Amino acid sequence: MRELQLAPSVLSADFASLGDAVRSVQEQASWIHADIMDGHFVPTLTMGPLTVKALAAVTDVPVECHLMVTNPWDLIEQFVQSGAARCTVHVEVGRVTEIIERARYLGIGIGVALNPETPVSEVLPYLELVDVILVMTVHPGFGGQKFISEVVPKITEISEYIRKNSLSVDIEADGGIGPETVAQVVDAGANVLVAGSAIFSAGASPPDASKKLLQVAGEVFLS
Ligand code: DX5
Ligand code: ZN
Repeated sequence: MRELQLAPSVLSADFASLGDAVRSVQEQASWIHADIMDGHFVPTLTMGPLTVKALAAVTDVPVECHLMVTNPWDLIEQFVQSGAARCTVHVEVGRVTEIIERARYLGIGIGVALNPETPVSEVLPYLELVDVILVMTVHPGFGGQKFISEVVPKITEISEYIRKNSLSVDIEADGGIGPETVAQVVDAGANVLVAGSAIFSAGASPPDASKKLLQVAGEVFLS
């Protein structure tokens, strides 16, 4: 049975106070989402294993690393050693089966992500092998972007495939998720919700923004 889960992305938090940001949402969070960007797969550079280690040290909530990098097979072990509970790699970089096997050998959870332009057919071969499929609902690289609603049918398609094949893989929606957009992705079948700016750059406090998001999502998820 898939659960509704919130994964606050600290990309939109105050990097001088990341520990406070993590602690502020840990009652609502099922995961702390760490966006790892390498300046190649995406133009931005964000955080690395040292930051992940610092995040993992301040909370019991598992840290998931969203690896927006071109060479995850070289880097994944560093993130495992830093305390990552699972890593998600992009299908666009290739060598996916190899990375899944490496993650299993290292004893962590593994996910596969796909960009807005990438067809669902690219990830179907991995659905039986991974814990989560991360559907990008913005172009990767930055927080605070506008939700791309055209991606929602991809979530429906993955969800249908999961149901027809009696799989238990989670579907994670990442990008532009907030109180106005969350119902669309949950209704389509997403159960893990990444949110950065809606939690850490909203008018409300991070815990209140998290509760609100879960409440709106819960109304659709339960119905
Ligand atoms: C974007 C990242 C997201 C980002 C989401 O490349 O993968 O996780 O932090 O930020 P918001 O929720 O602000 O769109
Ligand atoms: Zn992300």
